[in-house]
Amino acid sequence: MLTPIVVGNWKMNNTIEQARSLVYPMSLKLREIKGVEIVLCPPFPAIMAVSALLQGTDIKLGAQNIHWQEKGAFTGEVAPNMISEYCSYVIIGHSERRANFGETDESVNLKVRAAMEHELTPILCVGETKEEYDSDRTSEVVRRQLNEGLKDISSSKAKDNLVIAYEPIWAIGTGLASSPENANAVLVNHIRPTLEKIFDAETAQSIRIQYGGSVNGANASEFFSQPEIEGALVGGASLKEDDFVAIVQAAAK
Ligand code: PGA
Repeated sequence: MLTPIVVGNWKMNNTIEQARSLVYPMSLKLREIKGVEIVLCPPFPAIMAVSALLQGTDIKLGAQNIHWQEKGAFTGEVAPNMISEYCSYVIIGHSERRANFGETDESVNLKVRAAMEHELTPILCVGETKEEYDSDRTSEVVRRQLNEGLKDISSSKAKDNLVIAYEPIWAIGTGLASSPENANAVLVNHIRPTLEKIFDAETAQSIRIQYGGSVNGANASEFFSQPEIEGALVGGASLKEDDFVAIVQAAAK
């Protein structure tokens, strides 16, 4: 069994001061929970401050995005080598970036490869819109996102060094989570078999697949009791101490 991974995606929330106020008390509780990998993904300006608070704990940091180049004329962007000192993970291809910032399967692929080059584990997000879900196109969409997003990546690079987040877009920030059974079925029927085709069975088994979309302290344990779901990508509830601690506790059971 792989260690479950719970990732808090703060999105564009929390100043440095607010980040400190949230993380300090929360980390005292989180550090007591064993058997779960915990990753916090603050906005870039708060990363250093949060890193200082997490010294001496096993709680890890991730970024919410990167550019694929190491430097250059890319105003407003952040390079992988600029964050790898502080971060172990990076979220790539979140649906909000695909929908609002022109992220494509091609740019996602460049970013996944750049992350791996810089010792960052990519958390690659895939998932269908409501319309695609209603027209039974989930399989087609997640298979395309995986095949394109993971192009030209060797099994040896991906092994133990890739996390997939299945996030149906209709479930993100809506309070309408997928049913745990539906999410698990997408993992079993579409995501894991596609990973096996892209890499090989052993590599595919080493890749943790999370569910994301309206996970909270009350529903988390239903997701973690599904056989294929090895963690959660948590948005709104990661901004609330009690909720996030409850989700991590549910993952530990
Ligand atoms: P949510 O967001 O938990 O607020 O639905 C999840 C995500 O966007 O990663």
